[in-house]
Amino acid sequence: MNPFILQLLDKYHYQSERLLMILRDIQAYYQHIPKSVIHLLAEQLAIPLTQIQGVIEFYHFLSKEPRGYYDIYLSDSITDQMLGSKTIADYLGEKLQTPLNTVRNDGLVSIANTSCTGLCDQGPAALINGVAIGQLNKTRIDEIVDLIENKIAVNHWTAHLLQVDDNIQRADLLLNQRIENGKSIQAILQFGVENRLNELKNSGLRGRGGAGFSTAIKWQFCRETQETERYVVCNADEGEPGTFKDRVLLNSYADELIEGMTIAAMIIGAKQGFIYLRGEYLYLYEKLQTVLQQRRQQNILGNTILNTNFNFDIEIRLGLGAYICGEESALIESLEGKMGVPRNRPPFPVTSGYLNKPTIVNNVETFIAAAHIILKGAEWFNSHGTEKSAGTKILSISGDCANPGIYEYPFGTTIKTILKDCGAESVLGIQIGGPSGTFISNQELDRKIAFEDLATGGSFIIFNNTRDIFQIVQNFTHFFAHESCGFCTPCRVGTSLLKNQYDKICTGHGSSGDVRELQEIAKLIKATSHCGLGQTAAQPILTTLERYPQLYNAKLKQISFEPGFDLDGSLAIARKLSGRDDQNAHLAQVEEA
Ligand SMILES: Cc1cc2nc3c(=O)[nH]c(=O)nc-3n(C[C@H](O)[C@H](O)[C@H](O)COP(=O)(O)O)c2cc1C
Ligand code: SF4
Repeated sequence: MNPFILQLLDKYHYQSERLLMILRDIQAYYQHIPKSVIHLLAEQLAIPLTQIQGVIEFYHFLSKEPRGYYDIYLSDSITDQMLGSKTIADYLGEKLQTPLNTVRNDGLVSIANTSCTGLCDQGPAALINGVAIGQLNKTRIDEIVDLIENKIAVNHWTAHLLQVDDNIQRADLLLNQRIENGKSIQAILQFGVENRLNELKNSGLRGRGGAGFSTAIKWQFCRETQETERYVVCNADEGEPGTFKDRVLLNSYADELIEGMTIAAMIIGAKQGFIYLRGEYLYLYEKLQTVLQQRRQQNILGNTILNTNFNFDIEIRLGLGAYICGEESALIESLEGKMGVPRNRPPFPVTSGYLNKPTIVNNVETFIAAAHIILKGAEWFNSHGTEKSAGTKILSISGDCANPGIYEYPFGTTIKTILKDCGAESVLGIQIGGPSGTFISNQELDRKIAFEDLATGGSFIIFNNTRDIFQIVQNFTHFFAHESCGFCTPCRVGTSLLKNQYDKICTGHGSSGDVRELQEIAKLIKATSHCGLGQTAAQPILTTLERYPQLYNAKLKQISFEPGFDLDGSLAIARKLSGRDDQNAHLAQVEEA
């Protein structure tokens, strides 16, 4: 039997839930997943062959066909494009004699595009054998090409090529203060679980991953379930284009994150936790393992924490390039070694999550905020922000500004202030909350970052007056079509139709009838899609159609404006459909959830 595979199976204790980790190692070793190995895995892990085949086809970073020994994925987010990624891709392809989407004849290199890799503040970016490399320019490409042609392993490349900067530009409540290791755990031991859970409730902390559900209520629901086996999961998938704040938190605030996960485990009564780390952040994996190990040695993780009978440990599981795995139920499926297809809800993860056991899933920033609140109290937190949005929000700011990076602001801060701080001028508009969020125009700069106004998981992409709205929306629309998991027809077919229809408009072949059709598709996909991806996929089209009617009008008029086309009527439909823009509707959704 294949000794390499046996060794791997041993390393992962023959656990089928660790299938993604096993396949990741196999892909790195063989540059693909050989057929013979699939059979062997099915037999040894006692899982159906079809499950393994499905998983290989589902995840972007796995392949049945051999990829290059140096496997290059170029980040294709809108910010990379704005920073010249197309020129860089052409240059790289030419130097390596490897066109996009091909494997070189000698098998040394393959090049493909991928969605945002989380380096929007330092693009154009790429992943080479899974390792993040930013600030690509012709000089750096020359250096990289030399290293590749000389077959130097990526982990031996010079540090300046592999360096990823934190870029913290504005620190507030969370980024300014550190938690002494173990102090929040001690606070729970001192005051008791009920007392600290109440404090968390009084703080008003709402999830930082986007939906904004009350963290304390989620934890309480889980705590009150009848089951005794419960799980804590950190959602470190951070796939929304333009979001990279969790990258910085994982890199420089890992202790606070793990402290937050540990107090969550004390509150809900869990013994096991997971960090679901997006595959694009592979370079953080070893560093996080070291932090976990240090905490075990400090007796604040593992068995008999702080000499009590409380046991809790954390395992890191890596994703493999699928944006949908950020959706909590898809994430849980992925954690179980399956395709990341969102589950039917209810039941919600708090009652039936990982292995169908009660599970809380929270964003990285949420755990860090919770760790601080448990230690410092509700007032420390909710004396900042607004009535409905307590505390601060960490933003990932990229695009057209002098100082891209991480900015922490109290909720309620205006867009105008943020733009001034990061050095943005001649602003055309801002995409807030990523492609699934809201595109606001330069007429809305008095609006505020808050759940009751502009809710965001953290993505804040700025576009200046030289930018083409159509190119931006086209990029986002392609993103959704690419990332749709394909499970439900409205989203699978709908995102493709939106993409094709929008391409038609962009190339100047669109008619007013095409806009109407777009709106019909948008309506359908929003109303009938199974999960948040499909439900928000038309947002970029709807929010820009509403704000820039003159641009759309001009684009259509050039070619085939139909006399009698009622653009105003169409805009009214767009306004109605872009529910994310309606603050009350958003809040209602949160309450409903
Ligand atoms: C398509 C999609 C992608 C998502 N991606 C993320 C993500 O990368 N990180 C995250 O924390 N939440 C993400 N979410 C939200 C999660 O489903 C979930 O609400 C969140 O992890 C809960 O944590 P919180 O309460 O701390 O915000 C995503 C949701 C959808 C629909
Ligand atoms: S809405 Fe899209 S991403 Fe969500 S389950 Fe359906 S196909 Fe998958």
